[in-house]
Amino acid sequence: MDAWEALKTECAACRGCGLCETRTNLVFGVGNEKAEVLFIGEGPGEQEDLQGEPFVGPAGKLLDDMLRMIDLDRSKVYIANMVKCRPPRNRDPLPEEQQACSRWLQRQIALIDPKIVVCLGRIAAMGLIDPEFRITRQHGQWFDRDGRRWMAVYHPSALLRDPSKRPETFMDLRALRKEIRERCSRTDSP
Ligand code: URA
Repeated sequence: MDAWEALKTECAACRGCGLCETRTNLVFGVGNEKAEVLFIGEGPGEQEDLQGEPFVGPAGKLLDDMLRMIDLDRSKVYIANMVKCRPPRNRDPLPEEQQACSRWLQRQIALIDPKIVVCLGRIAAMGLIDPEFRITRQHGQWFDRDGRRWMAVYHPSALLRDPSKRPETFMDLRALRKEIRERCSRTDSP
């Protein structure tokens, strides 16, 4: 069994918090396991829980559009979440649930070894960049952590609720594309 298979098998058997009791499917992650760019959302919603894949509902359609705007698609990046099981009624994952699930995300990050990590929304940014992160003020800023470049953008669900945030997000995506061109030789090729 290779390292990815081992990780998926262990993760599927996890009983580290109560979310496994109510989920339909584990939502482990999807995309290119050798990606230079990793996107991290919050946690599965209803469609993701039913299909076992991240960002396949309405927010996922918008995420696909956001990727396309900067010449990316799911085959070039990896997409994961802070928690792998759906929080009931789409509530925010609790700090203890994020903590219990972080071991899986940290192993995914170690295996992928991305150059750039993009946090999708406040929850991922607070969990991974800075507990005091303010998404309204700090989206689009770069942070250096563990030899990688980190940025947060508004969560696609927030952009669906409030389209007035879209122009700012487009600027953030352009900054991401520039960073990819400078740092990521494989991601930038057609
Ligand atoms: N929102 C998230 O944060 N992640 C998903 O996978 C879907 C919606």
